[in-house]
Amino acid sequence: MASKEEKIDLILRPFRYDNDTLQDILGRLHKEMEKGLKKETNPDATVKMLATYVRAVPDGTESGDFLALDLGGSNFRVLHVHIEKGAKDVRLQSDSYAIPESIMTGSGEQLFDYIADCMAKFLEKIGMKEKKMALGFTFSFPCKQRGLDCASLIKWTKGFSAAGVEGEDVVRLLRDAIKRRGDFDTDVVAVVNDTVGTMMACGLADHDCLIGLIVGTGSNACYMEKLDNVEIWEGERGEPNQVVVNMEWGAFGEDGALDDLRTPYDREIDEHSINRGQQIYEKMISGMYMGELVRLVLLEMTKQMLVFGGRTSTDLETRGTFQTKYVSEIEEYTSLREPIGDKNPTMKILHSLGLKHATETDCETVKEVCRAVSTRAAHLVSAGISAIVNKMGRERVAVGVDGSVYKYHPHFKELMTQTIDKLTHCDVKLMLSEDGSGKGAALVTAVACRLAGKS
Ligand code: GLC
Repeated sequence: MASKEEKIDLILRPFRYDNDTLQDILGRLHKEMEKGLKKETNPDATVKMLATYVRAVPDGTESGDFLALDLGGSNFRVLHVHIEKGAKDVRLQSDSYAIPESIMTGSGEQLFDYIADCMAKFLEKIGMKEKKMALGFTFSFPCKQRGLDCASLIKWTKGFSAAGVEGEDVVRLLRDAIKRRGDFDTDVVAVVNDTVGTMMACGLADHDCLIGLIVGTGSNACYMEKLDNVEIWEGERGEPNQVVVNMEWGAFGEDGALDDLRTPYDREIDEHSINRGQQIYEKMISGMYMGELVRLVLLEMTKQMLVFGGRTSTDLETRGTFQTKYVSEIEEYTSLREPIGDKNPTMKILHSLGLKHATETDCETVKEVCRAVSTRAAHLVSAGISAIVNKMGRERVAVGVDGSVYKYHPHFKELMTQTIDKLTHCDVKLMLSEDGSGKGAALVTAVACRLAGKS
């Protein structure tokens, strides 16, 4: 008979990767990247390696007032960004608006009307409704770009499903919604992915920042690639001989490439998602799914009488109740530093989930589950970043990073630093980007205005 510890270990083992497994994942992703970049193989590639039209980073001479929109998670943000020549950072003011699920999953027109409505409120508040500003739109979904200000949505991800947007140019939809209102005007200059915005924002402070990473509601990365390697590039060739590639790595695994690594809990998450069979790598990593993974593992452990004395609660049995932020809160707490008892956030969280009968030992097990799930996420992300770093072949590179999981998890950065160090020979610096995705959209816009002689 296996002991309780052995049974727990058996359940968590598939979440734990050794170095060989990580090298293997790195290799598989590298293959997919090559497949995505080549014209002939791109149609069958899961990782689409989308060429953006961002080819230059800020040179410090940009200046002016810009608007930025940031759509891609559970909040929508509007920002006013002031850029001064030579500054290492920008000044900004912004407001956040929750996106109700009914808007995320309603009609496209409703979604874009809601966006325009929030913009009007914001401009009114900051007293700039009369000023026509250039605007950068961070739209964090996979898009086929045909220019800096033209991007058609390939498919929705992360819980969005607004009808009539897939296949359409989101810049046109935005312009139409603003026109429908008619009470303010802007000049939509650029549309960028959040990974690209993050990379650009960090690029102001570190010119070696050539990779952007998001570990938040979703997960994705972008990097600066040599144009010669991008067969799928349809724009002009020539200087600068480079372009930022939005990998859309969340889709990795859609062809079964990660099937041997997926646990029954990963499969269950996918079964109940609104994009079944899609975004497999993302579902193993990002914040939209991390808490739910923990809940499913705990449910299985309860069934096997390994936690909570075998007694569940209605909440524990309900999808989505175990929030991802709990994972960070639980792992943050070290019982060695603080006396066990009232201060233990795990106990509080379990109580709030109706598990009043949880014991201190249960708290430890819950923490172990959180650690297994979040460490796997950090390992998968590190294998991904290492695949990019090794492909770039540089001696030093900085990675601009944003997203709630990376930002709030107590050990994510440390885990990533250690893992990347093992998987590459490059000096890799991880830079947290505050407000990167919105700021970056404004910077891309500013560069475009500078190049067009508008600022
Ligand atoms: C999803 C989107 C991607 C975005 C990422 C992080 O994977 O498809 O475009 O960058 O989430 O927000």
